Amino acid sequence: MANFYLSLFLFFALFLGHGVVELQASHHVYRNLQTSQSTSPNQPYRTGYHFQPPKNWINDPNGVMIYKGIYHLFYQYNPKGAVWGNIVWAHSTSKDLINWIPHDPAIYPSQQSDINGCWSGSATILPGEKPAIFYTGIDPHNRQVQNLAVPKNLSDPYLREWVKSPKNPLMAPDAMNQINTSSFRDPTTAWLGPDKRWRVIIGSKINRKGLAILYRSKDFLHWIKAKHPLHSVKGTGMWECPDFFPVSTYGLNGLDTSDMGPNTKHVLKVSLDDTKHEYYTVGTYSTAKDRYVPDEGSVESDSGLRFDYGKYYASKTFFDSAKNRRVLWGWVNESSSVNDDVKKGWAGIQAIPRKLWLDKSGKHLVQWPVVEIEKLRVNQVQVPSKLLKGGSVIEVTGVTAAQADVEISFDVSDFKKAEKLDPGWTNPQLICSQKGASVKGALGPFGLLALASKDLKEYTAVFFRIFKGEDKKFVVLMCSDQSRSSLNSDNDKTTYGAFLNVDPVYEKLSLRSLIDHSIVESFGVGGKACITARVYPTLAIDDYAHLYAFNNGTENVKINGLSAWSMKKAQLY
Ligand SMILES: *[C@@H]1O[C@H](CO)[C@@H](O)[C@H](O)[C@H]1NC(C)=O
Ligand SMILES: *[C@@H]1O[C@H](CO)[C@@H](O)[C@H](O)[C@H]1NC(C)=O
Ligand SMILES: *[C@@H]1O[C@H](CO)[C@@H](O)[C@H](O)[C@H]1NC(C)=O
Ligand SMILES: *[C@@H]1O[C@H](CO)[C@@H](O)[C@H](O)[C@H]1NC(C)=O
Repeated sequence: MANFYLSLFLFFALFLGHGVVELQASHHVYRNLQTSQSTSPNQPYRTGYHFQPPKNWINDPNGVMIYKGIYHLFYQYNPKGAVWGNIVWAHSTSKDLINWIPHDPAIYPSQQSDINGCWSGSATILPGEKPAIFYTGIDPHNRQVQNLAVPKNLSDPYLREWVKSPKNPLMAPDAMNQINTSSFRDPTTAWLGPDKRWRVIIGSKINRKGLAILYRSKDFLHWIKAKHPLHSVKGTGMWECPDFFPVSTYGLNGLDTSDMGPNTKHVLKVSLDDTKHEYYTVGTYSTAKDRYVPDEGSVESDSGLRFDYGKYYASKTFFDSAKNRRVLWGWVNESSSVNDDVKKGWAGIQAIPRKLWLDKSGKHLVQWPVVEIEKLRVNQVQVPSKLLKGGSVIEVTGVTAAQADVEISFDVSDFKKAEKLDPGWTNPQLICSQKGASVKGALGPFGLLALASKDLKEYTAVFFRIFKGEDKKFVVLMCSDQSRSSLNSDNDKTTYGAFLNVDPVYEKLSLRSLIDHSIVESFGVGGKACITARVYPTLAIDDYAHLYAFNNGTENVKINGLSAWSMKKAQLY
């Protein structure tokens, strides 16, 4: 394997020796083209510890990896404004996934194969700890093609400069291969098969059939399209940002992307361009057939499993070899109007990176904020076990409620009054929309009111409801209700919901929310379901924000414990 990288590397070194260095000279070009728009001095919605640059538009996380102990986050960035456009790969690095230092854009239009844009892609760590990035370039004919870039200086742990292959594009649609030229993007991290050939998939579609086009290569430079995709699903439309990785069938450790050993399953996630939702399945990857088969019963649409049932898109994982974990990044879009985005001068943040693993049941993944985030916690407030009567609200005081981390756990012991779940109610988001926080139930709604104003004119409610399902099993619903999050009516206040794979008779219903000025990122029952909401309170801002626990059911529940922390500001740039 060392040989091929050597030739790859020599090739690029030669290339550099022949006058392409000017590219590097224009490196700072985007610095001079910063926005000329007016940016509001009043910024109540900027985050304290969720990643965002000082200004402008961001979207997908790209090329996430760890190299020589340094975490790299690249992301889609418009250097010129708060709306999508002029996309380059901005670049920040971190030693802890929480505090970041910015670098110049790493990849920006500079050659034929990306002159109209440098869109999303992924990093692969090649043998010998040599990173390589595949990304989608937009060529002069506005075709989507796949390009390769490698670090200019492997001794620089910050990998500040990248060199593009003169052979780019390495994968392109042509008359023969039946690839739609405007639906061919977002290459994944590559993996090495038992036949010593590399594989990568690229999101695409044929008519309404979404597909993960498979390419193979012996040397990482010459790529040949396989006869069949890795997987495809009718009726799902364009697949963006596919992610394909192994998970261990036991324990919480992550696996390297090329790991195909025993006791592994595979996960395929796609982001659906049509609905702006993602979904994933757990299944089996047959290396002999080079096909992925989701487990029986998998739902292959956005009614299936999602990393996050709220605002969360274009996610991407990487294997963190330093801590043997798989880490998930995801872009969290705004829910405000384009006008408001332009006024505030920025749009888009990244969710807190999450560790992810396969649930004991083998049926779905579990996610939890990376442990490093807990370094930001200060001034812990604890509420001991206490009854939360039906129809009551208690305030959690002593935390900076606009920038906090809160964990609460509920104990329900009497299920007699649980309402029946109509068998026709299969869409959790719809149930949450119809039964928001202000609709009284029996067992629930109970949970948290985040970013709440003192008079409860504004709040984002994250809560549970327990229903009696068929065959006497209980069904637990988790909701995030934004309908009263802001007095500003220009925002998208869609309510989100998910069913939780939990038996409330045996397990406590715990909820953790990361609250950060304009985001409430919530983890139900240890991360079995996650919901992220973007909200823009007009009253519950900074010191005027409050945090409450509430129970709007008729039945009492017990708070089994509550811990809340004020969160310090992270260094984001
Ligand atoms: C490569 O990076 C190392 C570490 O930052 C630095 O000392 C060295 O000068 C760099 N080499 C070149 C050719 O830039
Ligand atoms: C190719 O993709 C474009 C952009 O989504 C779409 O308008 C067109 O219908 C697609 N063609 C086919 C054959 O799927
Ligand atoms: C981002 O949010 C805006 C405003 O809510 C919405 O119009 C747009 O479709 C969203 N885009 C994605 C990719 O989620
Ligand atoms: C609880 O329910 C009552 C009656 O439906 C409603 O007026 C109140 O706003 C609800 N509380 C919350 C926090 O939604």
